[in-house]
Amino acid sequence: AYNEKESLFIALNFAREFFQQNLGTEEGQSIGLSYFKERGFTPAIIEKFQLGYALDSWDRLLVQAKKSGFETGILLNAGLILERENNPGNYYDRFRGRVVFPIHNLSGKPIAFGARILTQDKKQPKYINSPETAIYHKSDVLYGIFQAKQAIRQEDNCYLVEGYTDVISMHLSGIENVAASSGTSLTESQIKLIKRFTDNVTVLYDGDAAGIQASLRGVDLLLEGGLNVKTVVFPDGEDPDSFARKKGSADFRRFIQTQAKDFIQFKIDFFTRDAANDPIKRAEAIRQVVGSIARIPDPITRSVYARESARLLSMEEDLLLAELNRQLLKTH
Ligand code: GTP
Ligand code: MN
Ligand code: MN
Ligand code: MN
Ligand code: MN
Repeated sequence: AYNEKESLFIALNFAREFFQQNLGTEEGQSIGLSYFKERGFTPAIIEKFQLGYALDSWDRLLVQAKKSGFETGILLNAGLILERENNPGNYYDRFRGRVVFPIHNLSGKPIAFGARILTQDKKQPKYINSPETAIYHKSDVLYGIFQAKQAIRQEDNCYLVEGYTDVISMHLSGIENVAASSGTSLTESQIKLIKRFTDNVTVLYDGDAAGIQASLRGVDLLLEGGLNVKTVVFPDGEDPDSFARKKGSADFRRFIQTQAKDFIQFKIDFFTRDAANDPIKRAEAIRQVVGSIARIPDPITRSVYARESARLLSMEEDLLLAELNRQLLKTH
């Protein structure tokens, strides 16, 4: 019997293998492999994440796939090829001249690809991703979860990062309990996915304005999902990958361990930055911290955090509880 999803899995796995084999070609070695080497990726890590290379050609994948018996319709539905707009019935490869990061499902099957450009070209996007398909729903997936799930259970914690290369660099630094949201806002199903393995998340987003805004949003979504949340703030312009390479594995691990702060301290620091004693900023920090606590579904956990934040903000617990009740009434 014909099974659309099964044939998509087979096509994706074919492409994964094709991209991996391309790394061994002359072009793949001189362009793809040397790019990975420059980023400090070892042969073992390239193998572990099944990294590959899409040749700089319009149809090398298409031609090879057809030779192997794949129909155009399947390749199209798999998101591997595109139809030429001005030449219907003609197709070309979606991923060309880029290094390729397969995105795996929980059982380790490739379900999509992210592909990075090799040179800064402002006219082209840095990453191209597979479109939504019958087997790939971007909002349900976390990059690296397959390679991380055992370590997440063992450590009872999941590090959450923004990018593919952050995941890989952290593995190189000896930290395997890490997954990436791939630059988009966290979803409920991604949070449920983490909850299958742990109740504890440490958010390690990029140390730029966008990363901090994303952390603030992410913290609230994770709290709403009933998770315990810590954050690490990186120096401006650094992300886990760049910082790990700058510091070296041991220092990087120490940094993560010592800098991981409870979400309350993270919000206090952010909202009172460069003016800790400014009463207006302090009032705003209090409202913001309480706003996050109000999202915690479990009343006992909520009251524990309320007490802790009253202490950290050195204010009367009753006053903080009054504000918490006001915000709870507003949101429920
Ligand atoms: P490097 O520059 O290779 O270190 O990647 P990065 O992961 O640090 O990139 P960045 O911090 O800019 O973005 C974080 C994540 O957002 C990436 O890993 C991608 O998943 C995603 N992303 C970034 N740029 C693009 C883009 O142009 N298109 C798409 N679809 N996703 C992107
Ligand atoms: Mn879905
Ligand atoms: Mn960024
Ligand atoms: Mn980044
Ligand atoms: Mn980066």
